[in-house]
Amino acid sequence: MIQRRTVLKTGAALTGAIGSAGLLVPAMADTAPAQAADLDPTTIPQFEQAMPLPKVLQPSSVSSTTSYYRITMKEADAQILPGRLTRVRTFNGSFPGPLIKAVSGRRVVVQQTNQLSVPTSVHLHGAHVPESSDGAPMDLVAAGGGTKTYTYPNSQPHANMWFHDHAHHYESETVYRGLTGFYLLTDTVEQKLNLPTGAYDVPIALSDARFDDSGQLVYAMGDRMRRVLLANGKPWPYFQVAARKYRLRLYNTSNMRFYTLKLSDGSAMQQIGSDGGLLEKPVEVTSVPLSPGERADLVVDFSRYPAGTRLILENTAARYPDDPAEQIGKVLQFRVGAPVADSSTVPATLRTLPALGTATVNRSFELSMDESGASADSFINGKAYDMDRVDTEVEYGATEIWTVRNTNTRVPHNFHMHLVQFRVLERGGKPVTSGPESGLKDTVSLMPGETVKLQATFTGYEGTYVYHCHMFDHAAMGMMANFRVTKTPSARR
Ligand code: C2O
Ligand code: CU
Ligand code: CU
Repeated sequence: MIQRRTVLKTGAALTGAIGSAGLLVPAMADTAPAQAADLDPTTIPQFEQAMPLPKVLQPSSVSSTTSYYRITMKEADAQILPGRLTRVRTFNGSFPGPLIKAVSGRRVVVQQTNQLSVPTSVHLHGAHVPESSDGAPMDLVAAGGGTKTYTYPNSQPHANMWFHDHAHHYESETVYRGLTGFYLLTDTVEQKLNLPTGAYDVPIALSDARFDDSGQLVYAMGDRMRRVLLANGKPWPYFQVAARKYRLRLYNTSNMRFYTLKLSDGSAMQQIGSDGGLLEKPVEVTSVPLSPGERADLVVDFSRYPAGTRLILENTAARYPDDPAEQIGKVLQFRVGAPVADSSTVPATLRTLPALGTATVNRSFELSMDESGASADSFINGKAYDMDRVDTEVEYGATEIWTVRNTNTRVPHNFHMHLVQFRVLERGGKPVTSGPESGLKDTVSLMPGETVKLQATFTGYEGTYVYHCHMFDHAAMGMMANFRVTKTPSARR
């Protein structure tokens, strides 16, 4: 691990630089209008490029217990806009990010080498891992050739995970510039179901971007001008499907953008899972809300459409009042082809969730930031993130209820915890007993004024982990805190 002092210095230097450039602005502050050098998003053709699929990473070696991977974080030129190249930050040069396929009970070890010009920390979002492999905000892999080996025990049920940069003060820009990857963990519970697999099981990462007129990404904190929506790294692509069932695993990898996804004919999809894998039962949904970091696992049966049908996956959530509907309202187009044989099924019961257990500790957390734009600080319970402060001491093995409230009146937030998958007990005082939020979750949305009640059991590893708003700009501005899980009460403050 890098010396904390070194980190402090680089962190402070970076904050200073951003502050003096006037770029560190809260989300609601007015951002300057598009500069002349911006690429006009309306000039980007829609539904003309095919949506790529993530490249599946192959292990460099395998043993009876473990698959070993080697990944290099580096810059690459990706063809995002038709006929041009854009400089991006990648794992192994892949844009969209690559995909690791893992199986519960079998370890994955990833040796990461950082050839970028900024420090990184690789966090596996949704994973139950030791602190040393969590990719904590200060556990950095040095720029310009640093390496770190992450060990993922996969001692947890199947889940739709992803990995991304988490280096404090850098993550917002680095994730925006592409440093994300998919990590699908499966197990026998999931495998014995007859869900769509192979080419019919498609991970899709949704993000937003702003380009300049030379085709390069423009980054600013709190930017409201990211008006180009990318699905697996292409703006408004089309996806050719056969007329049969598909499993679509949607990931919101955007820094700040919330989506509400719908099919343009208004028809229903089956939501079968969320962050922490499958729901107990499939749910019919016509709209799918997805806050930054969240995942939705859907089955769409395209056999109900005649060959030649074109269908749009729409987004009905405008993030900002001036979001243009022609750009922000559309995500991708499905082009339905001929029917093909389909023996997959979506059973009425998908899994049994672990018993909730009895909570013995109740805590409350308030998320807040200055909505006037006067200050760039963001808080949890009135405090901005301090890497040396433990905010919440948790006894190993405890089951706790965390009540989390967004005290802002205009700005949405969300809430993500490392180490655990939690359950959403209540939203806005109403019990969550069925529906898309009734499964295992690690990230939950909080619209202005909203309150959720979460329950988690802190077992498996002792150590210090973070919880934070997953709008990366808010986390970078301080809406993040540490919890520490320990067995020995004397170690707790
Ligand atoms: Cu997806 Cu702490 O992060
Ligand atoms: Cu995480
Ligand atoms: Cu937030």
